[in-house]
Amino acid sequence: MSAYQKEYQWALNEPESFWAEQANNIDWFKTPETILANDEHGIERWFPDGVLNTSWLALDYHCEQGRGDSVALIYDSPVTEIKQQYTYCELRDKVAKIAGMLALQGVTKGDRVVIYMPMIPEAAMAMLACARLGAIHSVVFGGFAANELAVRLEDAEPKVVMTASCGIEVNKIIPYKPLVDKAIMDSRWKPESVLVLQRPQCEAELNNERDVDWSAAYNSALPHACVPVLATDPLYILYTSGTTGKPKGVVRDNGGHAVAMKYSMTSIYNIPQDGVFWAASDVGWVVGHSYIVYAPLIHGCTTVLFEGKPVRTPDPGAFWRVCEEHKVDVLFSAPTAFRAIKKEDPEGNYIKQFDLSRLQTIFMAGERLDPPTLEWVESKADKPVIDHWWQTETGWAIASNVTGIEMMPVKAGSATKPVPGYQVEILNELGESAVANQQGFVALKRPLPPSCLPTVWRNHDRFESGYLSQFPGYYVSGDGGYLDEDGYLFIMGRIDDVINVAGHRLSTGEMEEIVGGHPAIAECAVVGVHDELKGQMPLGLVVLKDGVKVDDVQLEGELVGKVRDEIGAVACFKHALVVERLPKTRSGKILRRTIRQIADGEQYTVPSTIDDPSSLDEIERVLKA
Ligand code: COA
Ligand code: AMP
Repeated sequence: MSAYQKEYQWALNEPESFWAEQANNIDWFKTPETILANDEHGIERWFPDGVLNTSWLALDYHCEQGRGDSVALIYDSPVTEIKQQYTYCELRDKVAKIAGMLALQGVTKGDRVVIYMPMIPEAAMAMLACARLGAIHSVVFGGFAANELAVRLEDAEPKVVMTASCGIEVNKIIPYKPLVDKAIMDSRWKPESVLVLQRPQCEAELNNERDVDWSAAYNSALPHACVPVLATDPLYILYTSGTTGKPKGVVRDNGGHAVAMKYSMTSIYNIPQDGVFWAASDVGWVVGHSYIVYAPLIHGCTTVLFEGKPVRTPDPGAFWRVCEEHKVDVLFSAPTAFRAIKKEDPEGNYIKQFDLSRLQTIFMAGERLDPPTLEWVESKADKPVIDHWWQTETGWAIASNVTGIEMMPVKAGSATKPVPGYQVEILNELGESAVANQQGFVALKRPLPPSCLPTVWRNHDRFESGYLSQFPGYYVSGDGGYLDEDGYLFIMGRIDDVINVAGHRLSTGEMEEIVGGHPAIAECAVVGVHDELKGQMPLGLVVLKDGVKVDDVQLEGELVGKVRDEIGAVACFKHALVVERLPKTRSGKILRRTIRQIADGEQYTVPSTIDDPSSLDEIERVLKA
C-alpha cells in the first residue's frame, strides 16, 4: 500500500481514531473525549466536548512555546509601498488590544461582527480579535457593493461593523465608509457601532453617532484574554453565492476547523513550522480565511498578506518578487492570477529575474486549473504545480495531491485524489455510483470531515435542502465531474447557477434578479461564458416587455450599472444582449446550458424537451454578431 492509500484507509475505516490523533496536534484547553457525535438535526459534529480558543492557537500558544520572536505576518503592499512585519508576540499584543476594543463596544461571546476591510494587517487582526472573544466574525469582500453588505448585515445581525476608510485598487482609491453608511441605511438591521480605521490615502468622515475612530478606541483599550469556547461554537460565518439572490451563510466551527487547518499544513502543503506561506488571495474569500490567516498561524508559519495584484502592481513580476524577497516556501493562488501574468509576460522574462530557490510548490484553487496554464507555470517557474479542489463550505481541500504524505504523479486537468477524511463519489441522477470516467454529481459521503459546514446560518432547512436531501447520506457539492480509472478526480464545472469569475464565486441567479428588475425587461437569462483570462464572464440575454422601445446600447449600459451598483465591480457584468425570446423547455425552463454552449462555440444537441427549436437560431445569430 502506498503512503497515501495507508493514510486514506485509516481515515476511512477508523475516522474517530484518525481525527483523535490529528486533534492531539493542537493545544486544547480541554481535550475532547468525544470525537464524533450527531447534533439535534442528525448532523455530524466533531470534538463536541473539546474546549479551545482559535486565537490562542494562532498566537499565544507560539509565544508560550518560546517562538514569540518569530515573524508571524508580513504585510507587503505595492499599492501603498508599505512593508511591515509582526512577530508572534507583536501580533498577539495587537490582537489582544483589538479584542479589548471590541469588548468596550459590548461585543461578547456569540455576538457577530462584520468585517469589511481591505487587505491590511488590521483585517487579519480583527478576525483574530473576534476569535479571541468567542465572537463570530463575518468578513465581507471589499469588492462587494453596499447592497451585498446590507444583505449580510441583515442576515448576520452584527453588534459591530469593523471597516477602514478605503481600499486601494490598481490606480484607484475606493472609499469604504460611504458604502458602509449606505448598507446600514438600506439594512433593517442596524449595528450599534462602526469602528473605522483611517487610512491616509482617503480619510473618512465620522459623521454618524455610531461611528467610532479605531485608533482612539484602540489606544484606550486594554488587552483581552482568550475566551474558552466549545469546539462546536461558531468561529465565523462566510457568505457565499448560491442559486438565489440571497447568499448562504456558511458556518465554520472552532474545533474541527483548527484540527483540519493544522492537518492540512503538513499533509497537503508539506510546510515546516518555520516556513513562509503565501496565499495570494483576499481575506474576503475562504482561501484568505484559511490560508492567509488561520492555518499558517496555527501551524506557526510566517504568513504573507499582500495588498496588490499579480499584474500592474507594478508589473507581472510582483508574485516572483514577493517570493524571493520574503523567502516564500509555498505559494497558493488562483489560475486566473497566473493567466494574467502569462498574458503580460508570456516568455516568463520576469520570473528569470528572481531567485526562487526557496519556493517548493505552487498550489492553485478557486477554479479548474486549465492544462495550458498548468504547463506554462510548471515550465516557467520550474516548480511542482498542484491543483486542488475545495469550497467555502469545506474550508479546506477535498481533493489534492497530498504532497506531505506522498507526491503522486500530476494529471493535467485533475485535482488528484480525495484528501484523507473525504469520501468522494460520483453519482448519477438516481443516486447510483457512476463507473470510472462517467460524469455525474460530485458528492461527498457523510460523515464530512472536520471543518465542513454543520449548517447555514439561521437557516438549517437551506443546508438540508441545498446540500443533503438530494442523495440521502451524501453532501452534494454543486460541481460535476468524474473519477478516472486510477481514482483521480476531474472537476468539470458547476451544475447549478454559480459561476467563477477570476476565481470569485458569483451567482447568475442573483444577476438575473437584478437585471430582471429593470422596468424594460420582461425576462432574462445570465450565463457564464468562457473567458481566456478570468475563466468565465457573465453574459446577459434579455427580452423586452411588449411595446417597450429602448436603445440597446443605452439599456446595456443601465443593466451593467445596475449589477455593478448592487453586486459590485467584481461581478464583471459587462454585456447584455436583447433577444426576441429565450430558448425554453416545454415546461418553461430556460435552457441556460444550451445558451452557454452556443456562446462558447461548443457542439450542442438540441434538447428533446425544447419548446421551439427555432429560438436557438436567434441566439446563435445574436451571439455571432
Ligand atoms: N475592492 C474594491 N474593488 C475591487 C476589489 C476590492 N477588493 N477587487 C476587485 N475590485 C474591482 C476591480 O477594481 C475591478 O473594477 P473595474 O471594473 O472598475 O476595473 C473589478 O472589481 C474587477 O476586478 P478583478 O476581477 O480583480 O479584475 P482585474 O482586471 O482588476 O484583475 C486579475 C484581474 C486576474 C488580476 C484578478 O482578478 C486577480 O488577481 N484574481 C485572483 C483572484 C483570487 O485571488 N481569488 C481568490 C481565490 S484563490
Ligand atoms: P468557493 O466556495 O468560492 O471557494 O468556490 C468553490 C467552487 O469553485 C467549487 O465548487 C468549484 O466549482 C470551483 N473550484 C474551486 N477549486 C477548484 C478546482 N481546483 N478545480 C475546479 N473547480 C474548482
